[in-house]
Amino acid sequence: MTITSTQEQLAGTAALRFPAGFRWGAATASYQIEGAATEDGRMPSIWDTFSRTPGRVFEGHSGDVACDHYHRYRDDVALMAQLGLGTYRFSLAWPRIKPDGSGPVNPRGLDFYDRLVDELLTHGIDPMVTLYHWDLPQVLEDRGGWTNRDTAHYLADLAAAAVDRLGDRVATWTTLNEPWCSAFLGYASGDHAPGRQDPKAAFEAVHHLMLGHGLAVRALRAGGAREVSLTLNLTDSRPANPADPHDVAAARQIDGLQNRLFLEPALRGRYPQDMLALFERFGAADVIRPGDLDVIAAPIDLLGVNYYQPALVRARIGATCGLPNPGTEGAEFVRQNAPVTAMDWPVDPTGLSGLLLRLAADYPETPLMVTENGAAYADVVEDGRVADADRVAYLDGHLRAAHAAIEGGADLRGYLAWSLMDNFEWGYGYGKRFGLVHVDYDTQRRVPKDSAHWYAAVIGRNGLD
Ligand code: NOJ
Repeated sequence: MTITSTQEQLAGTAALRFPAGFRWGAATASYQIEGAATEDGRMPSIWDTFSRTPGRVFEGHSGDVACDHYHRYRDDVALMAQLGLGTYRFSLAWPRIKPDGSGPVNPRGLDFYDRLVDELLTHGIDPMVTLYHWDLPQVLEDRGGWTNRDTAHYLADLAAAAVDRLGDRVATWTTLNEPWCSAFLGYASGDHAPGRQDPKAAFEAVHHLMLGHGLAVRALRAGGAREVSLTLNLTDSRPANPADPHDVAAARQIDGLQNRLFLEPALRGRYPQDMLALFERFGAADVIRPGDLDVIAAPIDLLGVNYYQPALVRARIGATCGLPNPGTEGAEFVRQNAPVTAMDWPVDPTGLSGLLLRLAADYPETPLMVTENGAAYADVVEDGRVADADRVAYLDGHLRAAHAAIEGGADLRGYLAWSLMDNFEWGYGYGKRFGLVHVDYDTQRRVPKDSAHWYAAVIGRNGLD
């Protein structure tokens, strides 16, 4: 493809069609939407504890009720069908299914997902199940959480129970969502549950999460899962000045912590040397036991990519870049000259095409799927309508970038918008709205935003005009 046509595409001037069979959908996560926090035998997760701890979540919000999806799933699936979604990615609440984390299955917990899967299939929507999207049973955290190797084995037990019950109808499985966040926001910066601030614990968590991934892949395969994946939050880490070797090194350091620390063990069976040095520096290297990396590198069928923003990095002595990771000293983020979302994240779709092309070059054997992409804006309902032109522009730009990556050779199989509906945005509570569908949390009324109608048209024509 010529440079001119890439520019035309990114500038939004050309009509585009995606490959036949391209999977279109949207994503959510259990704690962010379900509510029903104490129903049918569900026990607390680390997010219940965290959100009840004063000062942790914006205005003391919690997922106790959230979008009440546990009771409204039928209406929500009907909405998905209206949008024409072909795939719906959701996660399982571990403390519903195994209320004491590691013990017997609570059948009522699995019943909910059983009903949800049937409802989706009735509407012709493929379910895509994430096993772990951050709601670890609190009882497991009380035993060390992800710093405890046993937790990895318990994730595999959860996988076995889930595939046993749902595997006849669910083809596509994801082990973990964004282990970077679980490890570094959860155990290093403390911005997420369980709110710990201990670099050694964070690196131990990285390894046990990845071990849990590998063990869960095995359990899913043993249970007959047809398509198994891992979802990572990846970024396009760029040097502020590509001609400055210090900036190049700083960008590589961030690339290591956000990307290679997870990609390399899962897809190549090794931790990169610069990351192993960090395990050692923070006293966590002895959690890596012989044979672990073979387990972690169990082949997967699909790599899920969650992309929101690129990273522009420069070297500065004495700087820390604001990432929660330990080990970022000397690297600093540079503010991009780009519009920002309500999260203050720069909007730059070229980061998505750059990232997808890099993944295609480095791991050509692994098909890709954008499992999250989207933006928060301060949406309001006026006369029954949400005019979210900025979200439409965000999605349009990123879809053009995804298409450019396909043209450039990336084996991209699908795109899932984050999120189906406004929901509990972790530490930001209900203060940030990422949904295609607006949720009024007082009445639980759903209003599809302009972006939802726009996305339905994109899906309908398998492309952009
Ligand atoms: C990534 C997470 O997987 C999801 O839970 C979160 O809401 C979005 N990013 C937006 O921050």
